[in-house]
Amino acid sequence: VSLIVTEEAKAAIKNFELPSELGFGQVLSPIMAVCDFKNGEWQNLEILPYGPISIDPICQVLHYAQEIFEGMKAYKVDNKGPFLFRPEQNWIRFNKSAERMAMAKVPQEIFMDAVMEVTRMSKDLIPSNSGESLYLRPFMFATDSGLGVKTSKSYKFMVVASPSGSYFSKDSVSVLIERELIRACPGGIGAAKTGGNYAGSLASAQKVNKLGYMQTMWLDAINHENIEELSGMNFFSVINGKLVTPKITDTILDGITRRSIIQLAKSLEIEVVEESLSITKLIDKIKSGECSECFASGTAAIITPIGFLAEENGTKYELPTIDNSIATKLRQTLLSIQEGRIDGPEGWVVTVK
Ligand SMILES: Cc1ncc(COP(=O)(O)O)c(C=O)c1O
Repeated sequence: VSLIVTEEAKAAIKNFELPSELGFGQVLSPIMAVCDFKNGEWQNLEILPYGPISIDPICQVLHYAQEIFEGMKAYKVDNKGPFLFRPEQNWIRFNKSAERMAMAKVPQEIFMDAVMEVTRMSKDLIPSNSGESLYLRPFMFATDSGLGVKTSKSYKFMVVASPSGSYFSKDSVSVLIERELIRACPGGIGAAKTGGNYAGSLASAQKVNKLGYMQTMWLDAINHENIEELSGMNFFSVINGKLVTPKITDTILDGITRRSIIQLAKSLEIEVVEESLSITKLIDKIKSGECSECFASGTAAIITPIGFLAEENGTKYELPTIDNSIATKLRQTLLSIQEGRIDGPEGWVVTVK
């Protein structure tokens, strides 16, 4: 497989002017990486100008949602870097998602070359204040035509990139406890980063927006009792000084930020408990003051404190605002590693040359 950077893509980068207002995931780098899988083989990886692609109306992905994606960031704060954070973990998870969705696997070289080249060519577009980054979106979808439900034999793998500010415009996130709808069930696709999980979350997101909150908290499918995660983030709480987070099952996305936080917390001598965590118990601990913090973790959110949990009837369980919180300490440590101010564990930060 060869990497082909087209003249049109080089020109697109040269002529691009970055708007002053970025938001999150709204402004796109003017290039994209594209690699097709057909006849059992990966074709050349091409860097093209960003733009519409043409697909058949009966393309499998449009009807049966055979699709996966990843989310990762390149940091260039204070003009250091760009740095990627644990990119091989995204590649590994991408192929786990591919396996669950019965799709072709993407070789490490193609995934990395695509992510690296898009980042390298976009490097002058990466905003450089702390918390800002180039948000990278690798994705792949089924391209066979036909209305019969079947596994596609051809796929398109792509990477697009978005110079972005913070994901949340506020310092904390408000969360609705979803007591009715569910996100994932045992044996299902909850652990895969596939579009259907997010499509299925939107009805709840509509409720959340209407009530003026920001994220859905999902509970387990069987008893509607154990906390799983938020729609695009993992969940952590601090109970009696210990960091408590739901253990990963096949209904939860295994967050790379989550795993990194657990490792950092242990190195900071914070005790970590990974176990199922019931919403009833959490609410009791918030009321008694034993639960001092809740926060969300993810590539987009980094670590964002949860201000309150709410029920649909308007009942709110507020978390106290505290100085020197564990969330703040972990966020500062993690972001300092990601942005290249301090050294993290071996292999976490990869420089794009
Ligand atoms: C459903 C869901 N859970 C958790 C996460 C956090 O995963 P990571 O830390 O790898 O970004 C994400 C997003 O990335 C997500 O979409």
